[in-house]
Amino acid sequence: MRRKIVAGNWKMNLDWDAANALFQSLKTIQNEQVEVIVFPSSLYLAAFSSGNNHSLKVGAQNAYPKNSGAYTGEIAFSQLKSIGVSHVLIGHSERRDYFSESNAFLKEKVDACLENGITPVFCCGESLPVREKNEETAFVTRQIEESLFHLSADEFKKCIIAYEPIWAIGTGLTATSEQAEQMHRDIRQYIAGKYGNETAEHISILYGGSCNEKNASELFSCPNVDGGLVGGASLKADSFTQIINAF
Ligand code: G3H
Repeated sequence: MRRKIVAGNWKMNLDWDAANALFQSLKTIQNEQVEVIVFPSSLYLAAFSSGNNHSLKVGAQNAYPKNSGAYTGEIAFSQLKSIGVSHVLIGHSERRDYFSESNAFLKEKVDACLENGITPVFCCGESLPVREKNEETAFVTRQIEESLFHLSADEFKKCIIAYEPIWAIGTGLTATSEQAEQMHRDIRQYIAGKYGNETAEHISILYGGSCNEKNASELFSCPNVDGGLVGGASLKADSFTQIINAF
């Protein structure tokens, strides 16, 4: 049985008071069926992850794949580990686009993440021009192959994949449940081709891109959609709670 996961990527939103109020509210959620992870600004990670005695998990939106050294402004996976951060987003399209992060660089991040016992949430997804050329599956599977397929099956099983079509992120244009299911099925089959069915069936694949309290239930009812990576709708406790309870 695959884990059901709902993750909230707060991106560069919320000042301390708003972030803390949201976090305290989410800590009270009781839902044993769903793993809930929040990805706040790195500024708040130490406060949220210390003394973490509740089920809400805390992840970082980014990290740098060196353990220490002269990398001004960067945060190491080992530093995140030292404060109890459990997950890191790797390969979000905003990092790929605005910060030119390549599949090869993301591969280094995946390795550093796993070396530090942190779970990578590996993001992949195509732009609209790629989809219009019907090349979305080839594009997404290439992202996965180039950044993840060097891993052993045991290492691969420690990863979470988030499929986020770029054209659906922050646009209000959600992929239809058929589009999401098709891509998630294609990703799972591709993983099975490399690692076998047992590994492919183990991996949670999340959908992201204008996922909200209105469409979550339909998306999560797809057999290969194991949850969501939510941006805008994760910034309010009531909408995020409804999404968590949408399974
Ligand atoms: O990481 C989250 C995704 O970028 C989705 O963002 O729900 O605001 O479209 P969104």
